[in-house]
This record gives sequence, C-alpha cells and structure tokens, in this order.
Amino acid sequence: MSVKRIGVLTSGGDAPGMNAAIRAVVRQADALGLETYGVYRGFQGLVDQDWRPLTSRNCSNILQRGGTILFTARCQAFLVPAVRAQVGRDLRDAGIEALVVIGGDGSFTGADLLGRETGIPVAGIPGTIDNDLPGTDRTLGFDTALNTAIEAIDRIRDTASAHERVFLVEVMGRQSGMLAVHTAIACGAEAVLFPEGEGESFEGLVAQLRSGWERGKRASIIVVAEGDKVGNAYAIGERLRKDHNLDLRVVVLGHIQRGGSPTALDRIHGSWWGAEAVRRLAAGESGFFLGLKAGELVVQPLSRLRDPRPAPPRTLSDLVPILAR
Ligand code: F6P
Repeated sequence: MSVKRIGVLTSGGDAPGMNAAIRAVVRQADALGLETYGVYRGFQGLVDQDWRPLTSRNCSNILQRGGTILFTARCQAFLVPAVRAQVGRDLRDAGIEALVVIGGDGSFTGADLLGRETGIPVAGIPGTIDNDLPGTDRTLGFDTALNTAIEAIDRIRDTASAHERVFLVEVMGRQSGMLAVHTAIACGAEAVLFPEGEGESFEGLVAQLRSGWERGKRASIIVVAEGDKVGNAYAIGERLRKDHNLDLRVVVLGHIQRGGSPTALDRIHGSWWGAEAVRRLAAGESGFFLGLKAGELVVQPLSRLRDPRPAPPRTLSDLVPILAR
C-alpha cells in the first residue's frame, strides 16, 4: 500500500532544530504529492486525535525558531497497550498511514511499540539536547544547547576572574554527561562532574581545586551535569562552602539551554533527517530512525535503542584537568 498521508509529532523535551525537521517533513511530503498532518502535544495528541493538516505555507519562517510549532508533552497514557491499540485504529480511520516521531529515547520507545503493535509505519528523528541516543553521533538541539552553555559560561568566567571565585555551573543532562563534558572542554573548565564519570568523589574535586590553587589559579569553573552522582550543583556548593570556607557561587543554566535559535548544524540535520524520513516511509520502510555517523546520514532500526546509552568519550573527559593546568 502506498502512503498518502503522513503524521508528524514532537515529543519529550523540546530541542532547537525540531522546527527544521517538521518543515522538511512537510515540504518533502508535498514534493512527493503526500499530505502531512501535524499532531499536537506529542503522543497526547495521538490519544486525543488532536491533528490538523500542515502545508508547506504553514511552515514558513519556522526554520530559525527554537521550541516546536507542534508543542510537546510527556504522555503517561501512551504506556497502556490498549491506548496504543485505540490510537492505531484512530490513525487508520483518519487516513494517517505513517508517522514521524521527533524526540528522544522515551519518544522512540513509544514509536517502536506503536509501530510493532499496530503495523503503522513509524520513523524516528533524534531530537534531544542530551545527545544520548545510541546509533547516532548527534541529536537535534545538542549543538545549540552546547553553544548556549558556552556563551553563558564565558560571561561567568569574566566575573569569576574579576572576583577570584569558584563557580559551580550546572548544565542539563539527568542521565547523560554529553553536554557537561563537551561544555567543559569548550569553556576551559577546571573540572567536570557527570553521571558516567568514573571514580568521581567530593574529595577528588577538592583535591583538584586545591592543586589549581597551588598552581596560582584563583578562579575556577566547575561544570556539573544535573544528574551527577556526587550531587547537584547546589548540594556540592553547600558542602564546599561549609567544609572549605570557599567564596563560591552556583549558577544553574537550566532551560536556557533548551531555547533559542538553532545553530546551522541543528538546522541542517533537522532538514536532512526530516526529508529522508518521509522518503523512506513513502518507499514502504518502517521501524527506523535516522542519525549521523562520521558525517554521513545513517539509518538505524528502532531496536538499536536497547543498546547502552552512549557516554562522553573518555579521551575528552580525561582532557579537562590536563587543559586546566
Ligand atoms: O531530555 C532533555 C532534558 O532537557 C534533560 O537534559 C533534562 O534533564 C530534562 O529534559 C528536563 O526536563 P523538564 O523540562 O521536564 O524539566
């Protein structure tokens, strides 16, 4: 059966570049003579049948915008098999014959289940600032979030140097240190704490700060991933203040990292993946997601999600204390 109408949704935490992907889905479908329906608020929109036609004109001027024009949500109801079965029937009744899901691992798991249980062809586009999906070197939003964090920390560095202070800067990443380690390298941090970091301890951090002090460093930036096991930035900061009487400040960058205009790379990857997802669904493929490996577009089965979450390269995280000398 050839596909005539495709649905597209964004799900989980938003990520800059999602709008570029939506635009590419719609315009590539248009170019192939297919219709696109935008599904609002992720999987919740599937449950509520909240979908409307999207045209190439509806997608003007969104390439450069952060967030997602389709809104996003995390949907508990979709965890129930009977709900997914009903969604399959509703999609068929509406003539939506294939679905593009833009999101992270939770969203891909939902897409995988829907595809296998209902037979609706599904395609995934990696969209999460965490950059923590197996099978792809990059996810939409990571590059933008990284650049946002670096710009913020460059400003913090000015005041840290002026006051000769230690700053703990918390970046996003509940389960992943990708953003933390890449940020630490790119802003010349003195230390980084992240969930996958081996042998991390509070005492180790203190030793690192002390050795910097002995080498004449009076200002330090410590990047902390929000999911670090030593604690979050406030908890670590409190302990450092109490035990070591340090003049220290804590900055949580938070959702600033999720917003803003996508970088060139996030726009390009969103456009590339969006169009490729539609071409493959139109050709009868299903159960895949798109990614990037060594600069090339790759296609992965959704089952790859069961592989371990990629960790930041050890050669990069090990470099942080060396480059902080
Ligand atoms: O998954 C993306 C992400 O930004 C994580 O880095 C962060 O832990 C989480 O979402 C925050 O989610 P919320 O916006 O629901 O607080």
